[in-house]
Amino acid sequence: MEKQNIYILGIESSCDDTSAAILCNGKVLSNVVASQKIHELYGGVVPELASRAHQQNIVPVIDQAIKQAGITKEDLSGIAFTRGPGLMGSLLVGTSFAKSLALALDIPLIEVNHMQAHILAHFIEEEEYAIPEFPFLAMTISGGHTQIVQVNDYFDMEIIGETIDDAVGEAFDKSAKILGLPYPGGPLIDKHAQLGNPKAFPFPKPKVGELNFSFSGLKTAVLYFVQKQVKENPNFVAENLNDICASLQYTIINILIDKLKKASKKTGIKSIAIGGGVSANSGIRKALKDGEQKYGWKTFVPKFEYTTDNAAMIGIVGYLKYLKKDFTDMSITAKARIKF
Ligand code: KG4
Ligand code: ZN
Repeated sequence: MEKQNIYILGIESSCDDTSAAILCNGKVLSNVVASQKIHELYGGVVPELASRAHQQNIVPVIDQAIKQAGITKEDLSGIAFTRGPGLMGSLLVGTSFAKSLALALDIPLIEVNHMQAHILAHFIEEEEYAIPEFPFLAMTISGGHTQIVQVNDYFDMEIIGETIDDAVGEAFDKSAKILGLPYPGGPLIDKHAQLGNPKAFPFPKPKVGELNFSFSGLKTAVLYFVQKQVKENPNFVAENLNDICASLQYTIINILIDKLKKASKKTGIKSIAIGGGVSANSGIRKALKDGEQKYGWKTFVPKFEYTTDNAAMIGIVGYLKYLKKDFTDMSITAKARIKF
């Protein structure tokens, strides 16, 4: 008898991207992302505007994902959605929609932890992208997250280090704002950094214990540094932008790599996977590759569309849970703060 195809609809709405994806037996057929431009005007995500935009986007985004996959909603086997962590108003939109559609179609509902999904995104099969073997270390680095997780199995993960204040993406974005660059400034810092001298200006590295991170002090250091220099030379930022960006990026990458080195030493694990928007950064990609030679690491960076917030990663977790029949009750509610 022919094996029945399992079609999963994944829905992601935890922050400022509304996304829907269709997976068939764990392979991505479509992955539609509507990014909300409105926040650029405010230099950061405005929660109330984000949830309103999700409400406007969710129906057309899901519709498009189903059409692009070449199926109909009646073909769906289950619906996976991000329960948390994230912005409450944003999560509510995806959660309510997933519940209603699962109820209407009478198919299983599957809750997904957003952070677990960033990690399990590495299990989406794509040509030319290797899949890590257990156990491995996963570092999630984005505008909302900075964690090092020991991954023993699909659903056996332990957070062994995380930020005690800002996420690394915030360090990029907030420093960029101080330098007069538009939001989100991370990619722009990266662009300028490639043209500058990373040793031009020394920025302090935070002293924070064990495998945890702290980035709020760095942002303050950048602010004081720029204020001091601008007093002496009003054109300081414009004249030194590449060097400032290169120095800042160098400091941030050093912080991340130092913690990975510590984590690898502590756990004895040399397989390292990264995810989240900051993994697009040219400096971290190069530093990881260098780590393969220097420390004998095996490193994994997923396809870019699966590193930033997306529904394909929600869909892959949905598929893995579907296989285990790990379904969710209709009484489920969104949760802004959850661990796994
Ligand atoms: O994963 P993501 O799209 O959304 C969440 O924050 O969850 O990550 C966005 C973050 C922003 O802080 C952005 O500035 C940063 O990723 N980012 C980068 C680069 N590309 C995106 N930071 C540094 N270098 C980049 N090339
Ligand atoms: Zn995320």
